[in-house]
Amino acid sequence: MTPVIAQTREELAAVRADAQGTVALVPTMGALHEGHRSLIRRARQLADTVVVSVFVNPLQFGAGEDLDRYPRTFAADVEACAAEGVDVVFAPTVQVMYPDEPQVTVKAGPMGERVEGLTRPGHFDGMLTVVLKLFHLVGPDVAVFGQKDAQQLAMIRRMAADLNVPVAIEAGPTVREFDGLALSSRNRYLGPAERATAVALSQALQAGADAVAGGPEAVLAAAGAVLGKAAAADPPLEPDYLVLVDPATFADVGAGHTGPAVLAVAGRVGATHLIDNVPLSLA
Ligand code: PAF
Repeated sequence: MTPVIAQTREELAAVRADAQGTVALVPTMGALHEGHRSLIRRARQLADTVVVSVFVNPLQFGAGEDLDRYPRTFAADVEACAAEGVDVVFAPTVQVMYPDEPQVTVKAGPMGERVEGLTRPGHFDGMLTVVLKLFHLVGPDVAVFGQKDAQQLAMIRRMAADLNVPVAIEAGPTVREFDGLALSSRNRYLGPAERATAVALSQALQAGADAVAGGPEAVLAAAGAVLGKAAAADPPLEPDYLVLVDPATFADVGAGHTGPAVLAVAGRVGATHLIDNVPLSLA
């Protein structure tokens, strides 16, 4: 089944008015891979009508980031959506989403300045602003996001709670390649040698998870040792952060922490910024 493609607010409003039953939204920036497809399948289980948005949001890219070279693969994205039985693809232009320079935007607050927000100032403000706009435009009952972007997921949950947005937020697990590398639209930037180095991110998380019985210090030490080796590889992994944080706030957990936590890592291989994380439970 070929999905209906809506490119304007009016086209979206018309298909939305015809939608039967409950609606699930899967927001994406396109370049769809198996990770997105698993979120779409989850959405399909949760609602009668599935809407996938495809929009590379300029507001969440900082100066010098990869806005211009971000992969745009619209024909393949529509094929993937058709194969997954998506009902509607909402693919607005920048002009449709931001007809005027936005004056009022969402402020991510303290959470937006932690971890990924430290190296990407303003990123979470821009991300939350577009997600809130998509919620208003689509009016979904449920929206599905990947655990791969764990801080993004936590912030969207927090925005929905703090701003009383009437949408349920559902998370889908990270999908990985055969060797553990988390699927990401940015993986296609990696050359073969960079790809070989990049797997250290997920290996570090696995080493941390394996050390969970030793508590927070053991987790961070085990993961850090793997990153240390990768920093000496050719090409090197340049780590941005390795943190053990509260899943809801992304604040660092203390040395004696017990209960849920997220071990999150980010680094650069060549010009490519990659992130990954694993949820843990500390006894
Ligand atoms: O995760 C993404 O692809 C983007 O941050 C999102 C949620 C689609 C907002 O632009």
